[in-house]
Amino acid sequence: MAILHLEHLAIDLQTAGRLRRVVHDVTFRLAEGEAVGLVGESGAGKSLTSRAVIRLLPDGARVHGAILMEGRSITDMSRESLRSYRLSEVAMIFQDPRAHVNPVRRVGDFLTEALVERGEDRKKALEIVTGLLATVGIEDAERRMRQYPHELSGGLLQRVMIAAALSISPKLLLADEPTTALDVTTQSDVMVHLDAQRRGRGLAMVFVTHDLELAIAVCDRIAVLYAGHLVEDSPAAHLHEKALHPYTRGLLASRPSPTLRRERLAAIPGRPLSGLEVQEGCVFCSRCAHAQERCQKERPVLRELGDARVACHRAEELLEGGRSGGADGAEFEVRVGDRG
Ligand SMILES: Nc1ncnc2c1ncn2[C@@H]1O[C@H](COP(=O)(O)OP(=O)(O)O)[C@@H](O)[C@H]1O
Ligand code: SF4
Ligand SMILES: [Mg+2]
Repeated sequence: MAILHLEHLAIDLQTAGRLRRVVHDVTFRLAEGEAVGLVGESGAGKSLTSRAVIRLLPDGARVHGAILMEGRSITDMSRESLRSYRLSEVAMIFQDPRAHVNPVRRVGDFLTEALVERGEDRKKALEIVTGLLATVGIEDAERRMRQYPHELSGGLLQRVMIAAALSISPKLLLADEPTTALDVTTQSDVMVHLDAQRRGRGLAMVFVTHDLELAIAVCDRIAVLYAGHLVEDSPAAHLHEKALHPYTRGLLASRPSPTLRRERLAAIPGRPLSGLEVQEGCVFCSRCAHAQERCQKERPVLRELGDARVACHRAEELLEGGRSGGADGAEFEVRVGDRG
């Protein structure tokens, strides 16, 4: 059985006094120990999708479809079951750790909070989290636990958050852009610890990022979101060679490659749409170089193609035409990039 199963997930939010759909259709399964990268540009619905899994949506949000954790519906859970779910099965790491800690509580109190709430003896909880801090590369754990969040750098605090997430021994980790707010050196430091701990413990993970290359490096599968729709779900290892959706290829082409020295970077024309702006037809139509009349009228459904799933009318045709893995940017507008 899948550890997590999203089936036609849709999310409506209260905006300007009425409910409007921002996430339209997201379906995927996550196996035990598997990591899926939820990738897409800003506004695609990545954060809302991951937050729905732990029921942390804005007030007034409405969820449609199914979110199942080992077969149990998250949306139907009672308060008591939800509390227990959050204390023992699923943990979340956010982009901005400072927004998720109480600034007037010591790091040690924050770290032991979930374990103590779960009924663990405080001394035992302290022992557990001290060990966890060492595993995420924080050596002077006892001193750190006496400190307040403002005394720690962003990178250290994010590692504290990882330790806090691991403290409950969850089955599923939700990580929403966990390194985006950090400087580049700290980013890789934090990522190395997160990745090592996840793999070592065999945790399943939903890894939210706008950085497709990073997702490919740390995840087994990549789920690409565009305007609140899942448009591709492919094995990470195949993506460079065989990306199926024109949008995925656009994302691949628009990122500087460490191995390819290009004078200019390709960019997907136009701007990303949010789920609020979706019109008739394919959601990517307004930016797609391969759009045809059918694309403007008929929304492609997500369907299986080999070991992947894709929502594009022309996926096979484009694959046969040799445009797959076209990370050379030939099918996209080329703009001046920041590498020379
Ligand atoms: N609290 C909110 N109130 C109203 N609209 C929101 C709220 N949060 C997100 N949205 C809308 O939902 C869309 C998807 O948001 P989000 O999941 O945060 O995107 P992503 O994480 O992919 O950048 C955004 O374009 C935004 O318009
Ligand atoms: S369905 Fe048409 S517009 Fe949409 S991605 Fe495929 S080719 Fe492009
Ligand atoms: Mg986000």
